[in-house]
Amino acid sequence: MSRRGFLKGTGAATTVGFFAATPLSQAVASVKPASSALMGFDAIPISTSDAVTVPEGYQANVLISWGDAIKNGAPAFSQNNDSKAQEMQFGDNNDGMTFFLIDNDRAVLVVNNEYTNNEYLYPHQGKSITADDARKAQAAHGVSVIELKKNFGQWQVNLDGRLNRRVTAYTEMEMTGVAAGHDLLKTSADKSGKKILGTFNNCANGQTPWGTYLTCEENFNGYFADTKGTELGESYARYGLNTKDRGYDWYKHDARFDMGKEPNEPHRHGWVVEIDPMNPNSTPKKRSALGRFKHENAALTVNGDGHVVVYLGDDERGEHLYKFVSKNKYVEGAESNRDLLEEGTLYVAKFEGTQGELKGKGQWLELTWGKNGLTPENGFPDAASVMVFARMAATQVGATTMDRPEWVTVHPDNLSVFCTLTNNKYRGVKESQPINAVNPREKNPYGHIVRWNPTAGNHTSDTFEWDIYVIAGNPEVHKSGLMAGTDNINKDNMFNSPDGIGFDKSGRLWIQTDGKYSNKGDFAGMGNNQMLCSDPATGEIRRFLTGPIACEITGLTFSPDYKTMFVGVQHPGEDLAPSHFPEGGNAVPRSSVVMITRKDGGVIGA
Ligand code: FEO
Ligand code: CA
Ligand code: CA
Ligand code: CA
Repeated sequence: MSRRGFLKGTGAATTVGFFAATPLSQAVASVKPASSALMGFDAIPISTSDAVTVPEGYQANVLISWGDAIKNGAPAFSQNNDSKAQEMQFGDNNDGMTFFLIDNDRAVLVVNNEYTNNEYLYPHQGKSITADDARKAQAAHGVSVIELKKNFGQWQVNLDGRLNRRVTAYTEMEMTGVAAGHDLLKTSADKSGKKILGTFNNCANGQTPWGTYLTCEENFNGYFADTKGTELGESYARYGLNTKDRGYDWYKHDARFDMGKEPNEPHRHGWVVEIDPMNPNSTPKKRSALGRFKHENAALTVNGDGHVVVYLGDDERGEHLYKFVSKNKYVEGAESNRDLLEEGTLYVAKFEGTQGELKGKGQWLELTWGKNGLTPENGFPDAASVMVFARMAATQVGATTMDRPEWVTVHPDNLSVFCTLTNNKYRGVKESQPINAVNPREKNPYGHIVRWNPTAGNHTSDTFEWDIYVIAGNPEVHKSGLMAGTDNINKDNMFNSPDGIGFDKSGRLWIQTDGKYSNKGDFAGMGNNQMLCSDPATGEIRRFLTGPIACEITGLTFSPDYKTMFVGVQHPGEDLAPSHFPEGGNAVPRSSVVMITRKDGGVIGA
C-alpha cells in the first residue's frame, strides 16, 4: 500500500460537512510555510538544547518550578527540604493544569503534580528512604493550587493568596457515586469505604463550567507492593498491580501501600477527582461514576440538550476510550451542577472500519450493570463492581483495544473530538491487540491522533464517525508506507508520541509530545520533545515550541484573553540526563510551568 494509496477516499465521506471540508489527502498540497490563515507564526526547527525555544516574536518565562514556595513562610527550594517544606511548595512533575480567572488581575492556576524523580527528589537519590522521605514524596504528588496576580501585564505567583493550597497523597477526600461505601473500598483505617486519603499520579485534567477542576489518577498501581506475596488475582493484574511497586518504596513506611495488609486500598485510586479551587477548605471528591482505570484527562463538554459529557482515555497499551453522560442536566448558575458528576452512564468505544481506510464508524457501548453481559455470571455482582473494574467491564462488552489513549479534546465548535494514541509496541504483536482500522500500524512507534464526530452533533448519541487526523512518522527515514506518516507530516514538523492536546477558542489544535528524544535512527530529525500547532481545517501542523533535554512537554492552559499560554515542562534531565533547566549552571533540573507571551502583546498562535 503506498503512502498516498492508504489516504485515498479519506475525503470522500459525505455525512457531516466537516469530513468533506477537511480531507487529509488535500493536506499534502497545503503543507507550506504560512499557508494556514489560522496560524500566524513561523515554524521553528527542532532543538537538542537545554532550553525552551519559541517562534520569532514570542517569549517564554518560567512561572514556577518544583520546590518553589507557594505560601509565605515556605522555605526556598533545596534538595534537602523535608516533607513539611514540600507541603508549602510547588509539587514535582507538573502535568495537566487549568487557569481560572477571578477578576482582571487575579486568577488561580491549578496544576497536577504527577510523580517524583527520586534521582533529584532526595540528595541520596532515593536508594534507601526514611519515613519523612516517603512523606516528602507524597507531599510532592497531587495538585498545587496557586493564586496569580498580574503585575505590569505579566502574571506572577501571589504568595499572599488565600486560595494557595497543596492537595497531596494524604489529603482527605470523599468517594462519591455508586462505588462509595462498597465493601471493595473498605480498609482497616476506613470502615465507611468513603473517606479516602490522597490522590497521586495525577496526570492530566479537565475543568467544569461550574468552576471546578478535575484531576485524573493515572499509574496508581506503581505505588503498591505486596510484601506477603498474596495471590491477588486477575482484577489486580488487569490494573498492573503485582508484588513489586515501581521503586517509590512508600509501602516500607505507610502500610496502606502494602496490599498484603490492605488489599482494598488500590480500589480507592484510579479515579477522577473533582476539586473546588475557590474554596481552600473544600474536600476533594472522587467520582466513581467515571470509572476506575488509568485516567489520562477528562474532556468535558455540555451537550446541546444540557447533559454533561466527559470523554476519558485509559493510557495503557490495548486499553480503551470511554465517555460519561450525566444523568441530570447542566443549568447555568445552578447549585445542582455540583452534583452532575455524581450519577450518569459510562460508555466505552467500539471503532469499526475497513483496515487501510483510516476512517469508519463507531459505537458507544453501555457499561451499565445488568446490561451487555455485565451480570453476576460474568463476575459483576453489582453496579459498583462495574465501575471499580471498568477495564474488565469494557472487555466484557467488546470494546476496541487502543494504542494508549492519552488526552481527549473537544473542538470549540462542539462537533468534533480528538484523542491522541501515543504509541503501542504491542499492536499487531500481542494476540489480544491485533491491527485494526483505527490502530493501523504494527508496533506503532510514533503514535497518531484520531478524531470523531458524534452523530448529528449529539454527544449523547450511541454512534459516531471517525477518521485519523494524523499518523506521526518519519518520512526522511521511511520513504513510504505507514511509518512515513500521513501526508501532513514532513521533514520540518516531525514528532513522535503525541500526548497532551487542547484547543484554543479559535480552533487551533495544540499538540504536545512525550516521545523518544534520542534524535537518532527512527527518531532522527525529531529532537527534544515539543509542542506543535495545527489547523484542523487544512490538516497543517507547525512546530511552535521545543523543550529542554530529556523533558516531556505536557500541560496547557490559557488566560481568557488567550494572550498568555501556560505550558508544562516535565522531568527535564530524567534518568540523570545532562539538563540543568531552568536555572542553568550546575542547578538540579526541575519541572516547571512556563508562560508564553507575544512581545507585541497579541494572541498566542494568531
Ligand atoms: Fe501521565 Fe499517560 O500520561
Ligand atoms: Ca500524558
Ligand atoms: Ca505519555
Ligand atoms: Ca509524564
